[in-house]
Amino acid sequence: MSGRCVPPMPQAIWVDPGHDAAYPVYVGAGLDIPTLLRGHVEGRQVLLVSDEQVSGLYLDSTAAALATCGVAGLGCAAVPVGEGSKSLQQAGLLWDLMAKRRFPRDGVVLALGGGVVGDLAGFVAGVYHRGVQWIQMPTTLLAQVDAAVGGKTAVNHPMGKNLLGVFHQPSCVLSDVRFLSSLPMRDLRAGLAEVVKHALLEGEDFFSWLEQAAPALLARDEVALEEAVRRCVHLKAAVVAADEKEAGQRALLNLGHTFGHALEVLGDYTVLLHGEAVAVGLAVACRVAVALGLMERAPQERLESLLARLELRPALPEGITAAAWRAAMSGDKKVRRGELPLVLPRGIGDVVLCTAYDAAWLETVLKDFLREYAIL
Ligand code: GLY
Repeated sequence: MSGRCVPPMPQAIWVDPGHDAAYPVYVGAGLDIPTLLRGHVEGRQVLLVSDEQVSGLYLDSTAAALATCGVAGLGCAAVPVGEGSKSLQQAGLLWDLMAKRRFPRDGVVLALGGGVVGDLAGFVAGVYHRGVQWIQMPTTLLAQVDAAVGGKTAVNHPMGKNLLGVFHQPSCVLSDVRFLSSLPMRDLRAGLAEVVKHALLEGEDFFSWLEQAAPALLARDEVALEEAVRRCVHLKAAVVAADEKEAGQRALLNLGHTFGHALEVLGDYTVLLHGEAVAVGLAVACRVAVALGLMERAPQERLESLLARLELRPALPEGITAAAWRAAMSGDKKVRRGELPLVLPRGIGDVVLCTAYDAAWLETVLKDFLREYAIL
């Protein structure tokens, strides 16, 4: 017998933030892209947004898949690689293109790329015509486990990262772990930092699975990668369903990020990848939690040893001081009435928001952390 080998339809993980915005996230290795896309794009204009690197790898195959879906028209745009593309200027270029093509209200923007492309394309889709549909096809681990799910879209402003944005949920997410075969090792590890974050939030089952799956993940084993993405998406779907606009529970997803974002700023966004900064942020969040008496040493040591096994111990921006680190944290957009809540773990699977700390004391903990980090 002969015939086309059709991959089985993967089970969707549904994200339902309410207001008729529920959407499926498909996770798999070798997804049947045309079948999964057709219902969303048939008879519609599509604008495919990627970056100059991803387009060289996956634009042709994605355009070919779209061509079999009966789209009414296809435009493509590839933005420069890197955080610099998350700008109003770049968004403006895409809006110009859409306006010139008379991109209609029922058109669909398809984001093919990592977090930068997803954040930018989602923002462009969220504002154009007060919101057109968009689909995410994340090609990095970081985007598959975090950025592509939950509808946060944004561009940066000189005064802050993600300062201009909208919540705009996609109508579908296709996360194919085969895309990760072309991901540079450094980016794969950076994505694993967000997996560690989700495991620390979720609890013992996920965390111990991750401890044993670490070698397989580093070896890009597809089964392990699919499992990691699935576990993260399940967790994130539950959080977004409960608190789409980050009024409460969703803030816990920022675990490690307040410390990490400040490091990104101090490195001018060129020293550390976002996931690398999150890895350091997770380690320091655990140190702070132990110093505050919130957490025992044992889970902190487990976290640090897991990060070490995943080779997540990046070099920090040169000459960084605890004072500069803390000062950079006070520029965080989560500051409310002069207070910066920290997301801190009390144990694996038990994370809280904490404002009961003294800023000068925090600086001494950061200082100890930096001293030890330099020695180890
Ligand atoms: N990346 C955190 C969130 O989506 O809320």
